[in-house]
Amino acid sequence: MASYQDQNAADQYATDQQVTDAQPKDSSIAIRATDIVKNYGSGETFVHALRDISVSFQRGVFASIMGPSGSGKSTLMHVLAGLDSVTSGHILLDGTDITRLNDNELTILRRSKIGFVFQSFNLLPMFTAEQNILMPLTLAGKKPDSQWFHELVTSLGLTSRLNHLPSQLSGGQQQRVAIARALITKPSIVFADEPTGNLDAVSSAEVLTLMRKMVDDYHQTIVMVTHDATAASYTDRAIILADGKIVADQPHPQAQEMGDMLTRIMQNIVQQRSESHSLTPDAVSDASVSE
Ligand SMILES: Nc1ncnc2c1ncn2[C@@H]1O[C@H](COP(=O)(O)OP(=O)(O)OP(=O)(O)O)[C@@H](O)[C@H]1O
Ligand SMILES: [Mg+2]
Repeated sequence: MASYQDQNAADQYATDQQVTDAQPKDSSIAIRATDIVKNYGSGETFVHALRDISVSFQRGVFASIMGPSGSGKSTLMHVLAGLDSVTSGHILLDGTDITRLNDNELTILRRSKIGFVFQSFNLLPMFTAEQNILMPLTLAGKKPDSQWFHELVTSLGLTSRLNHLPSQLSGGQQQRVAIARALITKPSIVFADEPTGNLDAVSSAEVLTLMRKMVDDYHQTIVMVTHDATAASYTDRAIILADGKIVADQPHPQAQEMGDMLTRIMQNIVQQRSESHSLTPDAVSDASVSE
C-alpha cells in the first residue's frame, strides 16, 4: 500500500476548532476528508457504508476509486461532492468545511467548485448540447467565458454537435457533453461515478483519454469511480475500497496489477464471508437445509 501521507496530513486537522478555522496549509490539495463515517438506516436496515475514511486528493491529479459492489465508492463520491451528508467527519474543500454548510450554501458551493459526471450522463433531453453544457452557469445566472467554452468544446470534439439534442448523440458524445458541463465552471474538482459504465470499449477509451487530457492540459483534478482496471490505468492513483474502508492506495496503477489486486481482495472477502458464515448457527442450519 503506497504511503500518500494522508494519515499524517489529516492529523493536522484533527480537532474541530482547527477544521473550522483551517485554510488548507498545503494549497496543492484539492480536497481533504478526515475521519469520514457514513451510516445508513437503523436497526435491521443499518449499514456502515464508510468506516472512518481519511483521504486527500492533490490538485491536477486524475485518481480512481475501485472496489467490489457495495464497498462504498458512490457513497464516498457523494459525500465528497456534498450531494449527501456525513454521519461524522470533516471535508475541507478550498478551505471550507463542507460538512458545516447548510443546503443553500452547499448548492452555491457545488455550482462553482464541484463538477459531477454520472454513469447515465443525466443530460436534460429538451436542451441542446450547448445549452446542457452552459446549464450550470445559466442556473447560477452567470455569463459564460466564451473563450473557455470554445476551448472546451474543441478539446472534447463537440464543435459540430452543439445544436444536437442528447437523443441525437451517441453515448460517447453524450458523456463528452456531460464532461464539458462539469468543467464549464472551472471547478476545483470533478467527480465521475463510473463515467464509462454505459459505453463501449472505443467510446470508453475516447472519454478516458479526454479526461486525462483535461488533467494534463488544464491541471484539472478528477476523481473517478470505476470497476474497470483498464480505466484505472489512465489515472495517476488508484484507491481500493472494501467494506467501507480504504484497503489499497496505488500510485501509477497498471491494468494487470489492478485486476490482480481486485481479484485478491474479492477472494479475501468471499473467504471471510464463508468463514464467518460457517461459524454461525444459522449458517449451519442453512447449509443443512440446502443439502
Ligand atoms: N440511500 C441508501 N440507503 C441505505 N443504504 C444505502 C444507501 N446508499 C447506499 N447504501 C448502502 O451503502 C453501501 C455502499 O453503497 P455504495 O452505493 O456506496 O456502493 P458502491 O461501492 O458504489 O457499489 P456499486 O459498485 O454497486 O455501485 C451498500 O451496502 C449500500 O447498500
Ligand atoms: Mg456505485
